[in-house]
Amino acid sequence: MDRNSELIRQAEETVAAYRDIVNQDKYRLHFHLMPPVGLLNDPNGFIQWKGKYHLFYQWNPFKTGHGAKFWGHYSSSNLVDWQEEKIALAPSEWFDKNGCYSGSAVDDGGVLKLLYTGNVKDGAGNRETYQCLAESLNGIDFHKKGVVLRLPEGYTAHFRDPKVWEHDGKWFMVIGAQSEKLEGRAVLFTSNNLEEWTLIGDVAGTNKNGLENFGYMWECPDLFSLGDKDILLVSPQGLKCEGMQFQNVYNTGYFIGKLDYKTGTLDHGDFTELDRGFEFYAPQTTIDTKGRRLVIGWMGVPEQEEDKHPTIAHHWIHAMTLPRELVLKNGHIYQQPIKELQELRKNEVLIEGIKIETEELQISQLEGSTYELQMHVTELETSLLEISLKDSVRLTYNRKDQVFTLERISLSTGKPEVRQCQLSKLNKLQVFVDTSAIEIFINDGQEVFTARIFPEVENKKISLKAADGHVKCSLQKWDLIK
Ligand code: FRU
Repeated sequence: MDRNSELIRQAEETVAAYRDIVNQDKYRLHFHLMPPVGLLNDPNGFIQWKGKYHLFYQWNPFKTGHGAKFWGHYSSSNLVDWQEEKIALAPSEWFDKNGCYSGSAVDDGGVLKLLYTGNVKDGAGNRETYQCLAESLNGIDFHKKGVVLRLPEGYTAHFRDPKVWEHDGKWFMVIGAQSEKLEGRAVLFTSNNLEEWTLIGDVAGTNKNGLENFGYMWECPDLFSLGDKDILLVSPQGLKCEGMQFQNVYNTGYFIGKLDYKTGTLDHGDFTELDRGFEFYAPQTTIDTKGRRLVIGWMGVPEQEEDKHPTIAHHWIHAMTLPRELVLKNGHIYQQPIKELQELRKNEVLIEGIKIETEELQISQLEGSTYELQMHVTELETSLLEISLKDSVRLTYNRKDQVFTLERISLSTGKPEVRQCQLSKLNKLQVFVDTSAIEIFINDGQEVFTARIFPEVENKKISLKAADGHVKCSLQKWDLIK
């Protein structure tokens, strides 16, 4: 048996051996994508191809730690019901033997092509990086075509995660990189055939275009237009915490600007964090036939208490966020859960004219295990609104300081910990609660918080309270059931 078939056989055998244990986990997710077994990280190759959505993912089938990654594969016709497909890529060749690392997918005249990073390490731990091409005629079986780009001068071997798109009849590719001076960069290339690539230049990075020190490595860049702007979405490593910002070990956000396709430079403004929660990293976007710019993120952060996740006992770790649509409004990216998710809604409960006061309010009809909750605020006359879910998560809005807070129980210390953002007004909350995940969309996606949570599964409690004064609102809830 060749190396590729042997690796795939071993992976399939591991999945078969542990699938039941994963399925028995009380924290198994109900409507979020998770790995069949093992570790899942970045979304890869997100594309709508011949009518179907495809989402690949960084995957270590053998353990719940990182390692020589495979590309796992899910497909869907509606972005809600996903089907597990055959393994797309295995780390079998000299140019990807330590991992088929992150990358993207494009349609090239009816052929589905994947551009990904071949990660290679020698015995002494030295790293090599190769940008590689694989292709498929049926969207299921992939054939590796080998290396299409080697490391150019001026960068270290931390050079990976190609994201490719077409613009004015040419292919463009942005890569996450580290300069020889250890500065994080996003680098632009162009090609006529996806096989020969020409370097254009640095799009942005530390000590570029007016940006000062902004990290030593930029991972998983994505470059696309939204409205009449160009957006660089990227996950820089090495940012320092600044007030409420950059609280996670590594962070993700975007620059808005205009890309000069000739020089490769993005004339951009400030960096804005895309998601304010505990677990969000390495998102990837695609555009679908409805013209929507869709994004899915990894609901995890590298090296951030990964070994503390309780799901490890059941041989799996991490998940994807829900698919979201990106919309640019007033110089800010709004993220909205895609409409299709409404298909999961069951058992609607709508309660209007609720008055939340200082005495804790518990409404039994609003209790649930996996559900969507919407709150429309009509009057907020309190210094602090507090919503508590499953005795495990607290959402608060402090009107005076204009601060929204997500509080959860820390995975490592068992004590409460917070993520926060500035919010001048609270009008609407849309919350998706899964067995071990929560996504909170504030004011139609103006701010979003994503986090893993591990409440007691029997606990369905929801309580609401105003520290003083009152809040008037309506509450609407649906069970989300597949
Ligand atoms: C981001 C990342 C990428 C890399 C992949 C490896 O989480 O480190 O830069 O391609 O994960 O799994």
